[in-house]
Amino acid sequence: MVRIALISDVHGNIEALEAVLRDIEKQHVDEIYFLGDAVGYGPKPADALERVLDVARLKVMGNHDAAIAASLDDSELKRYTPKALELLTWTNTQLTDAQREKLKNFQTDFVIDGIWGFHGTPWSYMDYLQFNSELPSAVQEDDYDAFKFIFYNMEKEGISIGAGGHSHIPIISSRKKGNTLVIHGLMPADIHDYRVELDDNRPVIVNVGSVGQPRDGDPRACYVIYGTSGEMFYRRVPYDIGKVQQDIMSITDLSIDVRNHQAKRLELGK
Ligand SMILES: [Fe+2]
Repeated sequence: MVRIALISDVHGNIEALEAVLRDIEKQHVDEIYFLGDAVGYGPKPADALERVLDVARLKVMGNHDAAIAASLDDSELKRYTPKALELLTWTNTQLTDAQREKLKNFQTDFVIDGIWGFHGTPWSYMDYLQFNSELPSAVQEDDYDAFKFIFYNMEKEGISIGAGGHSHIPIISSRKKGNTLVIHGLMPADIHDYRVELDDNRPVIVNVGSVGQPRDGDPRACYVIYGTSGEMFYRRVPYDIGKVQQDIMSITDLSIDVRNHQAKRLELGK
């Protein structure tokens, strides 16, 4: 049996990443795969990137990584909010050319150990696959072509789990008989170690949540452990949010609005 830690959306939050790595060390994990966005938003993009490079065997490119690595054109940059854009511009000043080169080597997606890893969708780090918390518990498959396409390919290739990040909201989806797509929704915020039993004949698509900027109302860092024996766990890990807030507030090159917003959202998990 192989145990894989799936981590995503670190976003320059080295405190959260180190806390997650300490937790991973206790979980008898064989490999760490990274699903994108090492940088952007957070106050320590270079440290976070270097640590991801150290620990993750596979590294997917997130939209923030791409913006830094590849100088996105104007039409792509317009898709970022003004606050995100200000942070991206600042983040760019924090990385060396050598680090930008390393970001360029991040991959679009990967298939290994029964896992299909990607950032937003397998074909785009910008597109969203997941939905918000107002989802109905069951929706008709026909409404969701992207899910349908991924499930079709997973079943064809014998892949058990499709795993992405990008929305920062942990969600599990699977397919029932009768072509109904089931979104299991958010895990209860007060659960520390949420176990999901997997069925060989029923692939799941999951969002692994975010290490460095959770947005499901639970400020603790979030990641997933997947075991090839047929189970997965969502882990929530507390970290020193106050330290990261201090680091953000001390970046005088950023507007006070942006600093306040970023610091506040970490403690709210939004
Ligand atoms: Fe992200």
